[in-house]
Amino acid sequence: MGKDVIVACDFSSKAEVMNFLDKFTEEKPFVKIGMELYYAEGPAIVREIKERGHKIFLDLKLHDIPNTVKKSMSVLSRLDVDMTNLHAAGTVAMMEAAIEGLTRPDGTRPILIAVTQLTSTSQERMESDLLIEKPLDQVVMHYASCAKKAGLDGVVCSPLEAGKVHEQCGENFVTVTPGVRFADGEVGDQVRVTTPAKAKEIGSDYIVVGRPITAAADPVAAYRRCVKDFVG
Ligand code: C5P
Repeated sequence: MGKDVIVACDFSSKAEVMNFLDKFTEEKPFVKIGMELYYAEGPAIVREIKERGHKIFLDLKLHDIPNTVKKSMSVLSRLDVDMTNLHAAGTVAMMEAAIEGLTRPDGTRPILIAVTQLTSTSQERMESDLLIEKPLDQVVMHYASCAKKAGLDGVVCSPLEAGKVHEQCGENFVTVTPGVRFADGEVGDQVRVTTPAKAKEIGSDYIVVGRPITAAADPVAAYRRCVKDFVG
């Protein structure tokens, strides 16, 4: 699996994201488009960024009945994104339907990964609101196993969990890990963070980096620093 840095383009308008991407005159970073930008600008923004030569992780976290997810994934597959995702909580049946929908007539499909438990969900909340009473890390690993069983390519997880996910689901099972910060940078609202170099050591396949790049005084230099530390 090719290691790469994915830049989380958490902007709410085309003007902002294009202004940001214009700074990159030499390299074409792998870009994550999330709900904020997608709901603001629609599928056109995906096509436009793709046309500029970027790989795209479309982070829409689908979670619905299998038939709806299958049909929605079929629509997304036509956008020619490189990676997309869903919630493992939708069950193995939903994940299998998603793969079916995402697979193009020629047999190719984007990388499909699952969100296990959101990092914003605490043990306490999981027990009180979701009535799941197992330890959180056990739940995360179980969801990862379900994703693998359904035929998905990997999961979104904390870089600190990437090693364990590989141990359980295999070296080729992709780990996509947000929560990355430079040792000398702001942590912001992320709780369990690690540096690009440490994420590499633990075995993340892709790191998702937002504000340490998008809010940097020199975003291109910050991106290059991430690539140097993570990819080498
Ligand atoms: O700015 P920052 O580097 O914290 O951005 C991280 C990105 O990864 C954001 O787009 C955030 O929504 C996403 N993410 C995360 N934690 C998860 C899942 C996704 O931070 N568990």
